[in-house]
Amino acid sequence: MRILMVCLGNICRSPIAEGVLKHKAAESELDWTIDSAGTESYHIGEEPHKFSQKICRQNGINISGQKAMQFSKADFAHYDKIYAMAKDVFTEIKRIGGPDADMSKVDYFLNERIAGSNESVPDPWYGSEDGYIAVYQMIDETCDAIIKRYK
Ligand code: 4NP
Repeated sequence: MRILMVCLGNICRSPIAEGVLKHKAAESELDWTIDSAGTESYHIGEEPHKFSQKICRQNGINISGQKAMQFSKADFAHYDKIYAMAKDVFTEIKRIGGPDADMSKVDYFLNERIAGSNESVPDPWYGSEDGYIAVYQMIDETCDAIIKRYK
C-alpha cells in the first residue's frame, strides 16, 4: 500500500495524518509507504506547523523531520490511495490530475471513519492551538479505521 495524505499547505493537517498513520502501521508491522503533500506551493520545504508538531509529540510521535511538498499529477501513478483532507483539496486534486486521472484512487480521508459522508477535516491554520488538538483526535480515529480496514 502506498498512501498519500493531501491538504492545502502540507504543514498542518496532512503532516499529522502522515505521522499518525506511519506510527500505527509500524505498530501493526505493516510495510506501507505513507507520505503527505499540499495542493498549494506556499510552504514547500517547511517543517510542520509548531502546533501540529506539539500535539504529535504529546502523543509520542515525532514529525519534525517532515518537509512540505506540493501535490503533482505524477502522484496518481505513484500512490494506490490518495486521501483529501477536505472538499477544496479534493477539487484541487481533481483539477491537477486532469481528465485522464484515475479518481478512483482518491477519497475524502474522513470517509474511512464514516463512509460516504464527504466531510472535511477543519483547517486549523487561522485558529488557536485547540483546533490542532481537535484535528488530531479526528485524524487519530480515522487512522485507526484505515488500519482496521486494510491490514
Ligand atoms: P494545511 O493548513 O492545509 O492543513 O497545511 C494550511 C496551511 C497554510 C495555509 C492554509 C492552510 N495557507 O494559506 O498558508
